[in-house]
Amino acid sequence: MSTSLKLKGQSALVTGANSGIGKGVALALAKEGANVVINYVTHPEAAQEVVKEIEDLGGNAIAIMADVSKEDEVQHMFQEMFAHFGTIDILVNNAGLQKDSPFKDMSLADWQLVLNINLTGQFLCAREAVREFIRRGLVPERSKALGKIICMSSVHEVIPWGGHVNYATSKGGVMMLMKSMAQELAPQKIRVNSIGPGAIQTPINRPAWDTPEALNSLLTLIPYNRIGQPEDIGNLAVWLASDDSDYITGTTVFMDGGMTLYPGFSTNG
Ligand code: BGC
Repeated sequence: MSTSLKLKGQSALVTGANSGIGKGVALALAKEGANVVINYVTHPEAAQEVVKEIEDLGGNAIAIMADVSKEDEVQHMFQEMFAHFGTIDILVNNAGLQKDSPFKDMSLADWQLVLNINLTGQFLCAREAVREFIRRGLVPERSKALGKIICMSSVHEVIPWGGHVNYATSKGGVMMLMKSMAQELAPQKIRVNSIGPGAIQTPINRPAWDTPEALNSLLTLIPYNRIGQPEDIGNLAVWLASDDSDYITGTTVFMDGGMTLYPGFSTNG
């Protein structure tokens, strides 16, 4: 691998990296020279496939199972990562899920599951990463920052989403988790930012794109008129993790083909 790689020698943990956006991000970070932990909770074979894809590109990766909402599993995962790669430079808090239902039918279990994974999981992983950044100290030859955290949020941190109240609430929470961490940790040179994806073609939103009718209806919400791909998000994650974005902290970068531009107003209002 050449020395111009943007993340050379850095170690990254991507949660929920065995499919969808997490997989796209893991591959993109590895292509820029990062050692990558592929976290997963189900489908170990899919995680191993991502590891193999990275190894075939000449990169380093390992798969580690952990439920990000469980404190002991998260701490164990970080210990395993440190035993293997020594430390962590980049955390991508990506693991997340949807459990959709009309509000009046939403069970407490589905509310809590979504909040536990999407929000508490980001807190638990970020806390372990921050502890290690501070313990280890700055390594100027690797990065100008002590560490970088990227939270996978959503356009639904700002766009309300009926029928998905638990999910939208979790992403609204991620926004304030990210900003408050960024404010507190900036003096220690830890950068914390979010990516706010719009509709990206992954298993989480399959019903929104897997028939021509569904896709056409989805495209009415996307001024740029295409669905996003995991590679789009991967490119942005590389930039946010690299020193190219060294002066950015506390920001959500929406990558959504204009979904947050209120397209319904282009011919109305
Ligand atoms: C959701 C997807 C949805 C997209 C745009 C994402 O956060 O997980 O299901 O397609 O937002 O609405």
